[in-house]
Amino acid sequence: MRILVTGGAGYIGAHTVKALVARKYEVVVLDTLEKGHRGLIPAGVELMVGNSADVNLLDNLFSSQKIDAVIHFAGYKAAGESVEQPAKYFRNNVTATQTLLESMVRNEVRYLIFSSSCSVFGNPQNMPVAEDNNPYNPESPYAESKLMVEKMLSWFDRAYGLKSVSLRYFNAAGADPDGTIGEDWSVTLNLIPLVMKAAAGVSTSVQVFGTDYSTPDGTAIRDYIHVNDLADAHILALENVQKTNQTTVYNLGTGKGSSVKEIIDTTRRITGRDIVAVERPRRPGDPMAIWADNSKAKRELGWQPRYGLEEIIRTAWDWHSKHPNGLQ
Ligand code: WQD
Repeated sequence: MRILVTGGAGYIGAHTVKALVARKYEVVVLDTLEKGHRGLIPAGVELMVGNSADVNLLDNLFSSQKIDAVIHFAGYKAAGESVEQPAKYFRNNVTATQTLLESMVRNEVRYLIFSSSCSVFGNPQNMPVAEDNNPYNPESPYAESKLMVEKMLSWFDRAYGLKSVSLRYFNAAGADPDGTIGEDWSVTLNLIPLVMKAAAGVSTSVQVFGTDYSTPDGTAIRDYIHVNDLADAHILALENVQKTNQTTVYNLGTGKGSSVKEIIDTTRRITGRDIVAVERPRRPGDPMAIWADNSKAKRELGWQPRYGLEEIIRTAWDWHSKHPNGLQ
C-alpha cells in the first residue's frame, strides 16, 4: 500500500512515517518544511516539498502515483498563536484540508487518517474524557479548526463516501527510543521540551503555570502520551478503517494523568540535573486536569499504549540532551 503523509517531516509525522516504513508500507511525504525537517525523514522515502493547499500538486500526485490512503498531519498547532492569528490557522488547518479532501474525492482516494486534538473539548468537566461524555468546547481557533475538520469529514463520508478516522491526541511527548528522531524544541511552548531545556542548561529555569489548582500538588494535570504510541495508533486506524469502512474518532491518551510538578520531579530524578522551577500565575485557558478514557481505541483498534511516564521522560531526555541546539 502507498500512503501519502502530509506533514511527515514534523514530530508526530516523522515517527509515524518511520513506523509505516518498518511495516513495509510505501510512503510519500508532502511537507512545506516550514516547521518540518528533512533530516527526520528516513532515507529512501520520497519527500515532496509543497503544501496541501496546492490543488494542482495534489491532483498531479494522486493521478500519477497510486495513493491508497492519506495520513494528514500538516497544520499549525500553537493554540496561543491561533488566538492572535485566527485567519492563518483557519486557512492552513481548515481551507487547505478541504482542498485535500476535494482532491482525494476527485481522484478516488478513499481513506484519510486525520490529526485531531483533545483540545476540541476545551476544559472538560467529566473525567476521564471519552469520545462522547463531554460537550465540545474549543477555546482557540486551533482547537476550533480541528473540530471543524472532524465535522467536515462526516459530511464528506455521507456525500462522497470518503472514510476517515480522526485521532484526538492528548499531550504528545517523548522520542523514538533508538534516538534517531525526536521533537524540535527550538520553537516549542510545550512543557516537556521546556523542562528538558532547563535540565540541559539551555534555559535557566522552567515556569510552572499555576500552583493553586485543586489537584493533589496544586499543579495542572495532563495525559502525556508517547509519540510512538501515537504512531502505532495511526497505523492501526489506517488498517481498521479499510475493514470497517466506518468514519469515526478516537481519543488517544494513556488514561493516566501526570501533574506539572510530577513531570519536573521525574525529570530531575532521571537526568540527575537540578531544574529551577519558577512559579507563575495560571495560563489563561488552561484546563486544571484532563486525561483520556482510551477504551474505545483499545476495544476497536486493539491499541495498547506501551510507554509510561518514565520512558517518555527518558527518551525525551536522551534525544534533547543530544540536540541542545534543536534541529537545524
Ligand atoms: C501542559 C501543562 C501548562 C509550559 C497540548 C497541545 C495541544 C493538545 C493538547 C494536541 C499545562 C503547563 C506548560 C510551561 C507549564 N495536543 N506548562 N510551563 O496546553 O496541555 O496542550 O496538548 O493537539 O495542541 O499544545 O500542553 O505542554 O503547553 O502544557 O507549567 O512552560 O504544562 O500550563 O498545564 P497543553 P502544554
